[in-house]
Amino acid sequence: MIKLSDGRSLPLDMHKVKTVQRLPFPTVEQRLGAIREAGFNTFLLRTRDMFLDMLTDSGTNAQSDAQLAASMESDDAYAGSESFYKMADAVRDVFGCDYTLPAHQGRAAEHIIAKCLVKPGDVIPMNQHFTTTKAHFTLAGGTVEEICTDEAYNTDSSCLFKGNLDIEKLKKLIAKHGADKIPFIRMESTANLLGGQPFSMANLKEVRAIADQYDIPVIVDTSLVADNAYMIKRREPGYEQRTIAEIIKEIVSMADIIYMSGRKSTTSRGGLIATHKKEIHDLMAPLVPVYEGFLTYGGMSTREIESMAVGIREMTDEYCAGCAVDLIEYFVSRLAEKGIPVVKPAGGVGAHIDAMRFLPHLDHLQYPAGALAAAIFICSGVRGMERGTVSMDRDIDGTELVSELELVRLAVPRRAFTMSHIEYAVDRIAWLYEHREMIGGLAWDDEPKILRFFLGRLKPIAAGKAAANWDEELAQVFIRDFSLDM
Ligand SMILES: Cc1ncc(COP(=O)(O)O)c(C=O)c1O
Repeated sequence: MIKLSDGRSLPLDMHKVKTVQRLPFPTVEQRLGAIREAGFNTFLLRTRDMFLDMLTDSGTNAQSDAQLAASMESDDAYAGSESFYKMADAVRDVFGCDYTLPAHQGRAAEHIIAKCLVKPGDVIPMNQHFTTTKAHFTLAGGTVEEICTDEAYNTDSSCLFKGNLDIEKLKKLIAKHGADKIPFIRMESTANLLGGQPFSMANLKEVRAIADQYDIPVIVDTSLVADNAYMIKRREPGYEQRTIAEIIKEIVSMADIIYMSGRKSTTSRGGLIATHKKEIHDLMAPLVPVYEGFLTYGGMSTREIESMAVGIREMTDEYCAGCAVDLIEYFVSRLAEKGIPVVKPAGGVGAHIDAMRFLPHLDHLQYPAGALAAAIFICSGVRGMERGTVSMDRDIDGTELVSELELVRLAVPRRAFTMSHIEYAVDRIAWLYEHREMIGGLAWDDEPKILRFFLGRLKPIAAGKAAANWDEELAQVFIRDFSLDM
């Protein structure tokens, strides 16, 4: 962020554009047709159907010239690839971990951790679950316990660290189940499903102290560690003068194991598990060739390993660590200025709109976040992601598990979008907010049993003043206010 002479702050781009990709601009009628064909599930849209793809920041970030150049130098050896050793060196330098296990992405790392550490009947406390994390730990027979602070569910909050784990809840959980039922405590940096909210270093230290008291390992999901480190630097007293590199190293020093999706902070398309403990490496290493690939590529192309090695180092650059966070802060402040209910304070990953407050006439089981994501798409061609009850799978007995938060996430991939894109999205969402009573709910047409949000298909339903064909009526009003080809 840079201060302007009038006192405002501006997220200043510290890069210039070298390569561009032409964006399609489908008309509102084409967008309506596309969302219907996709079963009102934004995951099932095609790139050609949309203008701005704000589904995720996973694998969609713009890579640096240094990353692309490094990928050209990759060593394609099946075993002993020099590319892997460059990544392991970066892990040692940046995270301080001597042992690196490659995996093709974050969920593959979770799979190996679950296979090695989670037994039926185990309980895994965490500040917040991530969808794939929960799926792997549950499939291994464990139960995920989310013990974030109550404040995390207040979307209009001034709490700077809503990704903190509630220490009192952790103590109670250990007392209830016994430490031997808890294979590890998981902390997610920049808790994704809480709206990209960071934990504080003070909180992580407290978690570590309790873990030491009961001899329970700590695992930190570092997929978004650079963003969390940047927010600690900007928000936590005592860290203002510390470098991002120092903060990242301190975070990792609290963990027995870290794992990450390389698709986020490191702007590449891989994953890894790292530790400073040889016994943990030796426990997990045999599973890498079984599920991922040999220990020196782990299911990644060596080109990606090279670019991840560079990405791990580049994320310690304050500009790289903060480039998404700053633009998200701008996005959130512009939405808030228009009166749109958005998760505050701004965090990482993207701007998160509170669908329960945007659509108070819908209840959780009419899937307000899914309906809002579809409506935003119809009136803008901006693809966001439902992060609410649709993203929760049913309980084993078939009961719906209602999400505490119903969010539409508009992700801001690193270095991919400009201020004009943000302003366009803000304008169309503000228009939609004026017409919010027209948005109805959704019901299942086809509901998969596991991770239903990926492939499930839904249909529009009436709710409040909205008719069952609310999608069509919304498009008609949009054409009246703008035009057919907008
Ligand atoms: C915090 C977190 N952990 C794990 C994952 C899973 O990583 P991947 O998508 O690379 O499998 C993600 C993906 O978005 C994530 O945000």
